[in-house]
Amino acid sequence: AEATADAPEFRAPFVVAHRGASVARPEHTLAAYELALTEGADGVECDVRLTRDGHLVCVHDRTVDRTSSGVGLVSELSLDELRELDFGDATDPAAVLTLRELITLVLDWRERPVKLFIETKHPVRYGGLVESTLLGELQRFGIGSPASAAHSRAVVMSFAATAVWRIRRAAPLLPTVLLGESSRYLGGSAATTVGATAVGPSVKTLREHPDLVDRAAAAGRATYCWTADDPDDVKLCRELGVGWIATNYPGRTKTLLAEL
Ligand code: G3P
Ligand code: CA
Repeated sequence: AEATADAPEFRAPFVVAHRGASVARPEHTLAAYELALTEGADGVECDVRLTRDGHLVCVHDRTVDRTSSGVGLVSELSLDELRELDFGDATDPAAVLTLRELITLVLDWRERPVKLFIETKHPVRYGGLVESTLLGELQRFGIGSPASAAHSRAVVMSFAATAVWRIRRAAPLLPTVLLGESSRYLGGSAATTVGATAVGPSVKTLREHPDLVDRAAAAGRATYCWTADDPDDVKLCRELGVGWIATNYPGRTKTLLAEL
């Protein structure tokens, strides 16, 4: 059935490891995601970008300069060229992570069902190619199709309302999050217009406009808050009834929530 704010998963806060356990390990690497899952994360977040040859890879920035041994735009590098770079740190080398590899890790995690929160970066620039490639990847694993046991294992998020709308139209079963920083925008008609399952304010926006959570719930939507690292922010999310808490410290956040 379609995910709604009444679904059980929205009742207790889910801890979503932002870029993996991205303080303890280099962000968006297999090691960061494996640690997040070992620490008990309920979900993991990743950003995706298209390579020159049309593969989705888990990289946040437009370029690989900050997070790898190389330089250049992700969109101008092939997957093979990206595989020659080191995305690890001084102690642990790491290869670029493809979305396909991350989905495989998440679906193969046998201890509990884990959800994957996929954020498309600058999808509008490519005229729908990011979304169609993403849906193709998800369909390979049965995500988004009701007949599959894996159908509800991913959530697609974007700051671009157009991207959320495209996903919604092409795959109505997939939960979506409309990300934003402005409470007026997130509390306004945009989320309804594009049919987003949830709104995704920053924790700063939530501190300033805590009423956003109730307003979203009144419209049948859940709230995804990014990125709550400070224990006071985690407590605030819990008090407000935020469904999904993204954090760079999944283990510590799980422990804190269990003690509240
Ligand atoms: O989870 C949403 C959040 O990741 C958005 O910000 O810049 O970390 O992708 P950013
Ligand atoms: Ca992100």
